[in-house]
Amino acid sequence: MALIAGLHAWEALDSRGTPTVGCVVRLADGSEGEAIVPSGASTGTHEAHERRDGGERYGGKGVAGAVGSVLAEIAPAIVGLDAADQALVDTTMRELDGTANLSRLGANAVLAASVATALAAARSQRLPLWQALCPDLPPLLPLPMVNVVSGGAHAGGLIDVQDFLVVPVGASSFSEAIEWASRVRAATAEVLRERGHDTSLVADEGGLAAPLPSNRAALDVLLAGIQRSGLEPGVEAAIAVDIAATQFLADGAYVLASENRSLRAQELVDEIAAWVADYPIVSVEDALGEDDDAGWRYASDRLAPIVQLLGDDLFVTSPPRLEAGIRGGIANAVLVKPNQVGTLTDAWRVVEIARAAGYATVLSARSGETEDSWLADLAVGWRTGQVKVGSTTRSERTAKWNRLLRIEAEEPGAAFAGAAVLAPLASHDSPTHLHPGGQK
Ligand code: PGA
Ligand code: ZN
Repeated sequence: MALIAGLHAWEALDSRGTPTVGCVVRLADGSEGEAIVPSGASTGTHEAHERRDGGERYGGKGVAGAVGSVLAEIAPAIVGLDAADQALVDTTMRELDGTANLSRLGANAVLAASVATALAAARSQRLPLWQALCPDLPPLLPLPMVNVVSGGAHAGGLIDVQDFLVVPVGASSFSEAIEWASRVRAATAEVLRERGHDTSLVADEGGLAAPLPSNRAALDVLLAGIQRSGLEPGVEAAIAVDIAATQFLADGAYVLASENRSLRAQELVDEIAAWVADYPIVSVEDALGEDDDAGWRYASDRLAPIVQLLGDDLFVTSPPRLEAGIRGGIANAVLVKPNQVGTLTDAWRVVEIARAAGYATVLSARSGETEDSWLADLAVGWRTGQVKVGSTTRSERTAKWNRLLRIEAEEPGAAFAGAAVLAPLASHDSPTHLHPGGQK
């Protein structure tokens, strides 16, 4: 038993300089776990509630109230509980909050305590977090999707689509995947410079932020970068896109401002299908707005058989929203962001539900991140198969890559997920190493 003895919390800063919650959990045996939670910019309406103060401080974005939740309410409720019983700790906080979206205490307060508890419990067992989450299975290093060109809410709306990412589908290890991704980023920057763009400015996730004339122009630049890097497009290095379509949906129309076009849902899906035909695209995230049910139906029929169709704002790491999507045959993969749901237990539940339905899972950071690396351990311990944390630059991103590189270096028996985890491949193939039973 590793009993929780005390908590402390404070107002920290994320990678955008916006306040966020830091929390330390101390156990009776002296072990400690510390976590600082991330925050999104292109957030879904159905996400758990991030509690902010309003008023003057930090332009209203202060989190003194959420910090107060940890100190005044969460601490007295979970002190004395066994930190190794994550489900009990998380359920206790959810019941204490009493709302469906954690709006009373704040999901930022609850997640900070949830993650710090997991880290303290692992420390007390003298295990790395990934191993505490998955004690009986060898680690599985995820296939990364790495941001190269950024648009949307992370780059001042320079282009409409939010992320153009490289997926090193031919790599045979995690470290090789990162080397390839880094090579593609450098080559893509060269291509942009030759075409007259400044590459010194980067977007929130470290992606290159250039005022390109269209979304296709960004795909052209990334494909040229892959070719210049010497990797074979589609075989060694493929492309993923996060359309983040909720962000440019206005009054029922999808407004591609950079191209001066306004599309209906079906037209947008047809446009994306044409991109998939013309470029080596293996994954499409948030092709439609978060509540565009008819659009998602059409996208699922048209795109899910040929590409990984990934729900982020659509599913918001919510067990009931994912279950409804699975019942309706919507999408074939889910992005998992712990702060969208507020506890590790619920995020893990989403991984379990997805896995049982043959949906692929991509663990994801947020655009506002922190120097913490626990997300990397979740990817390995939960064996999500894929991970998305932004570019290979900026320390809040490299903190996660570096942690994964260390785990691979230290664990000679570590398997690398590789391209077989991509949906729709994953659902046909269902490799047994992705279906471990008995995880906590
Ligand atoms: P966010 O972006 O953290 O700003 O929501 C990440 C994503 O959309 O995948
Ligand atoms: Zn997204």
